[in-house]
Amino acid sequence: MDISVARVDCTEYETPLLVAKILEGEDALVGPVAKLDERMGGLIGEVVRRGDFRGKEGQTLLLYPPSGALPAERVLLVGVGKREDLDLERMRRAGGVAVREAMKLRVERFASLLHHAELVSDRISARAAGRAAAEGAILGAYLFDELKAKDPEAASAPGAMAILEKVEAKAAEIEAGVRLATVLANAENFARTLGNLPGNVATPGYLADTARKIGGEFGMTVDVLGRAEMEAEGMGALLGVAAGSVQEPKLIVLEHRGGEKDQKPLVLLGKGLTFDAGGISIKPAAGMEEMKFDMCGGAAVLGAMRAIGELKLPVNVVGIVPSSENLLGGAAMKPGDILRSLSGKTIEVVNTDAEGRLILADALAYLRRFDPAAVVDAATLTGACVIALGHQASAVLGNDEALIEEVRAAGDRVGERVWPLPMYPEYREQIRSEYADVKNSGGRPAGTITAAWFLREFVGDFPWAHLDIAGTAYGDGKHPYLARGSTGVPTRLFVEWVLSRAT
Ligand code: BES
Ligand code: MN
Ligand code: ZN
Repeated sequence: MDISVARVDCTEYETPLLVAKILEGEDALVGPVAKLDERMGGLIGEVVRRGDFRGKEGQTLLLYPPSGALPAERVLLVGVGKREDLDLERMRRAGGVAVREAMKLRVERFASLLHHAELVSDRISARAAGRAAAEGAILGAYLFDELKAKDPEAASAPGAMAILEKVEAKAAEIEAGVRLATVLANAENFARTLGNLPGNVATPGYLADTARKIGGEFGMTVDVLGRAEMEAEGMGALLGVAAGSVQEPKLIVLEHRGGEKDQKPLVLLGKGLTFDAGGISIKPAAGMEEMKFDMCGGAAVLGAMRAIGELKLPVNVVGIVPSSENLLGGAAMKPGDILRSLSGKTIEVVNTDAEGRLILADALAYLRRFDPAAVVDAATLTGACVIALGHQASAVLGNDEALIEEVRAAGDRVGERVWPLPMYPEYREQIRSEYADVKNSGGRPAGTITAAWFLREFVGDFPWAHLDIAGTAYGDGKHPYLARGSTGVPTRLFVEWVLSRAT
């Protein structure tokens, strides 16, 4: 969907659908909405005054202007809640609500007022408001229908949205926000598609090819290690996970060199487990198909790298995705096996289903050679995280409070919330092994924390933050701009964090 800013009066703009946002509990219409209302003979004012449309968040009402009153064929009111609660996330959601109504109406294009000045100009800049509205619209319009026959009845995304703003200074600011939003939201949609593709399509090799394409398009170096290279390096943990699969594991490394030559890179790391059956410690059959989403952390890294390349950010960033399947077979690793990891530490595999931490362990040891300024990883790592935080926030843990706070703040700004869990040293006791340096499961209590402690065993001397996205990487789609299936989280958080370091 193409988003542009049109420097026109909304009462003069011809469009199949014009969207206006309405605050809850405010009868007096102001700014462009008041002008629209006047041209429509007071229709908007009337539905608001009568309480038929209260402006509650997510509420919508479609109005048909009296014939000849406006060049717009339809006017859609979108409630944004109370003035004091209005923030970027609500604006983003309103963008999603608007585009989904446009999709239901099957209009091929639509227009929207931002009129953020009337809503919250004191707290939110025109640029940020433009960015939020555009992000919400592009994310909300996302569909994953490429593996289905074309259904002429099905909703499809409009080709274009115009934001109407007459004041040049504001229009230019909105345009800047829209440009950034377009890159970020398309990158997140790209990550969603990687996440949604089934395990038989999105294999480790497919992710590697995808990385090569991104590298080619944006001038990044791409390095892919296969089985032979992993053996030569001594990546026994990653190879242990891959042992039960005929798909060759890949360690994918993308390098964006936008900064000074000697500037230490930021490293983004993502779990790229393309299907997790649990291995010999097999998962229950019900819902196992969802384990195609076990590469969503890796997908977000690839999406973020694409955005970072497209934005030509003046900073060095390395994206790393260890990728494998976790299956069963005669060659598969078994409970009790002891693996020698790249770091030199040995790992007792007490549960083959705790495989994400194994592939990340070798990736964490590998990335030390880049001498990172900081590392942030994202992984669908533990079911325990879904129990702790549900689907509303990812967990964040790490070895550096300042970095954790940076990541938390970046997540808040883009509506991809993360919440900290403690790493008290006592938790580490749970992963002590009788037979090896560490074991790969600490049992059920505090499963998200002991998983993070396991990763920490392999983290070098650099600030590191770990995001457990098991509850946020995919969902049921009951959300204004998250589709059913992969959410693309935390693609925008990654880029927002890198942006905060680049400026
Ligand atoms: N990929 C799963 C975690 C997961 C569970 C993600 C549910 C999304 C939804 C991970 O590999 C796993 O199986 N973890 C185990 C660890 C346990 C065996 C210590 C878990 O959480 O049960
Ligand atoms: Mn698992
Ligand atoms: Zn897994």
